[in-house]
Amino acid sequence: MSRSIRNQDVPELPRRRQVRTAGMSGNYWYVVEIDGRLKPRQVKRVRFWGQDIALFRDAAGELHAVEDRCPHRQLPLSQGFVEGGNLVCTYHGWKFDGCGRCTEIHHELGKGRTRLPRIRIRTYPVKAQWGLIWLFPGDPALADGTPLPTIPQLEGGQPWPFFPIDVTIKAHFSMIVENVCDFNHEYLHRHKRPFLQPILREWKQDADSVRVYYDTRFDGSPVAKLFMEGGARDLNEIEIWYQYPYQGSDIGGKYIHWLFMLPEDERTTRCFFVFLFGPIHVPIVNWKMPEFLRKPILWFTNKWYIEPLLGEDKWALELEQDGFERHPDAPQIELNPAISSFQRLSLEKWKAYQQSMERAGPKPAADPA
Ligand code: FES
Ligand SMILES: [Fe+2]
Repeated sequence: MSRSIRNQDVPELPRRRQVRTAGMSGNYWYVVEIDGRLKPRQVKRVRFWGQDIALFRDAAGELHAVEDRCPHRQLPLSQGFVEGGNLVCTYHGWKFDGCGRCTEIHHELGKGRTRLPRIRIRTYPVKAQWGLIWLFPGDPALADGTPLPTIPQLEGGQPWPFFPIDVTIKAHFSMIVENVCDFNHEYLHRHKRPFLQPILREWKQDADSVRVYYDTRFDGSPVAKLFMEGGARDLNEIEIWYQYPYQGSDIGGKYIHWLFMLPEDERTTRCFFVFLFGPIHVPIVNWKMPEFLRKPILWFTNKWYIEPLLGEDKWALELEQDGFERHPDAPQIELNPAISSFQRLSLEKWKAYQQSMERAGPKPAADPA
């Protein structure tokens, strides 16, 4: 066979091009909102890779997530309101329960009908954990068997307190992974100095994660000087992971962060950061911060230091996205060897998810046949 007609000879796009447009596998739990921000009888629109979802909490406090589309005239249900256990579309007043069934038609042509049209819209598994709302956008049959990440600091009788930070970054999620896992952008934070003189020591990849280890110093930032044990002088290494689809880091088992990304579309990623601080020590007197002061200190640290620091990353990432769109064919020039591992993992998971969706075939129609 002539080589020129073999399918596999169709040149693939370079990996950088592929990864910058890849989605995330739907067969994981994703954070879609901070729990306290969705009150009973409230509905909000959330988005996973182009799918709009109406997330609502009914009057009894139970969470539900349905496709954000009224099957009557396709208005977004997130523009409606919650009444009891139902989500009501504001145009003609059709009501839908958390199972996606039409339960009532308000107007004269629907009222009193003994049988409502057999309408059912798509629903999504949803639950609250650690003050965050998690949604499973993929195959619902897999939701129960798919665990949330293991975070020992949030388990047990005395979970570490934290205030989640919600930042929307107008950039593809793969750029964000490469930002948070690659300490070579120390230069961007040269004034805030969260880490100093990082040296990539090692990285490893398996089927589900990439782990990167840096030797670095943390005693340059005001946060470390004020609130970390010994001013962070004894901390000199960090483990960073991309444990698909989550990202996180650990400094000496005492300072942990997790990043739960919600890929809204090819150029928008909502990021939920969880910063976990172990013991907080007041320097000079070497006094352990009492529990009742720990939360206000964490809140203050987020507002005064961490959020402005993330603002620097957001600024750079949005410019990187813009640069990618202006120069999509520019070659990838990368000095950090771990970056290709992040990209390979993202692509492998995305391709496996697409194949699983193809195998499952088209979904049965949600609306009446
Ligand atoms: S469009 Fe929703 S009830 Fe008519
Ligand atoms: Fe950064």
